[in-house]
Amino acid sequence: MLDEVAKLRADAEAAIAAAGDADVLEELRVRLLGRKSELTGVLRGIGELPAEQRGPVGSAANEARQAIEAALSARLAGLEGGELEARLADDAIDVTLPGVAPVAPGHLHLITQTRREIEDVFVGLGYRVLEGPEIEHDYYNFTALNHPPGHPARMVQDTFYVDPATLPDGIVNEEGLPPGPRDVVLRTHTSPMQIRAMEAQGPPIFVVVPGTVYRRDSDATHTPMFSQVEGLAVGPGISLADLAGTLEEAARALFGPERRTRLKPDYFPFTEPSVQVDVSCFACGGTGELDDGSRDSLCKGTGWIEILGAGMVDPNVFGFVRKRGYDPDTTQGFAFGMGIERIAMLKHGIPDLRKFFENDVRMLGQFS
Ligand code: PHE
Repeated sequence: MLDEVAKLRADAEAAIAAAGDADVLEELRVRLLGRKSELTGVLRGIGELPAEQRGPVGSAANEARQAIEAALSARLAGLEGGELEARLADDAIDVTLPGVAPVAPGHLHLITQTRREIEDVFVGLGYRVLEGPEIEHDYYNFTALNHPPGHPARMVQDTFYVDPATLPDGIVNEEGLPPGPRDVVLRTHTSPMQIRAMEAQGPPIFVVVPGTVYRRDSDATHTPMFSQVEGLAVGPGISLADLAGTLEEAARALFGPERRTRLKPDYFPFTEPSVQVDVSCFACGGTGELDDGSRDSLCKGTGWIEILGAGMVDPNVFGFVRKRGYDPDTTQGFAFGMGIERIAMLKHGIPDLRKFFENDVRMLGQFS
């Protein structure tokens, strides 16, 4: 009988040692120690044994039971520890590895890139970058920019007027009265910031002002919303020659160091004289002809491309900011305004302005 108990115990310990997971161990516990197990049977049957065997067999069976229980829990602890370690090893994250982007990273819109490029050119020349409101008073958008009453740019065909009922309380027009239906506009250009900048700072002043502007226009080269960069340079002795030199520098920075520029007479109410600035065509090099002898369509065979409007600030404009130190009789400066989309279209050969705003990633993704 004692041999039987010893064998039971040895087999049990071997089975426990071989168990691979907690479920198998639980089955073993029931089979080895449960009510129907052989060992339980031995213990139950002790009373029927001859008296001299009862003591030794009883204690051997009890020892076996304790040994099996101990072996079960030791094996369970070992397995759990192993499982934990395995799980930890599986889950290990090396935080020093570079991340993997789930999708390709985005990039700045071509208009933003072009705006920054233009800003950089002028920051390099000592200009500051300002921004201003897109919803603007008629006073800043037109009146203080010397637009005489009835100027075509004020007409409803060109301008989006803002319904005064939609404005917050407390906004007043030039006369201090609640605004009427023609008093508040979506700015039609960034030029109102010439006035706001000079109201905020006396001369000398050198600023560029990028921003969104709005006009009631819509075709392949006009959208109701587009962007401009305004420039204003006011200081002692600033002349048209400075305007020409500054804008040639900018044109070369934007379109290539070989570019030449030319000024042509133009008209703006707030500059006198006013000029249009052309840059020599970078497709044909200024000849109007492509290498194969055909007519260059970019410059329409002229060798020149119009890039912006500019001029010497009209003394009447200084009159509106006289109190800030801009005496119309002695102050000189120049201003210019360029379309950001137009610069981007020219630089990248984009034929249709609307492409910028249709948000087709196949188009925009080409400029990452
Ligand atoms: N504001 C003018 C326009 O939108 C451009 C311009 C700016 C012209 C500054 C002269 C000086 O057409």
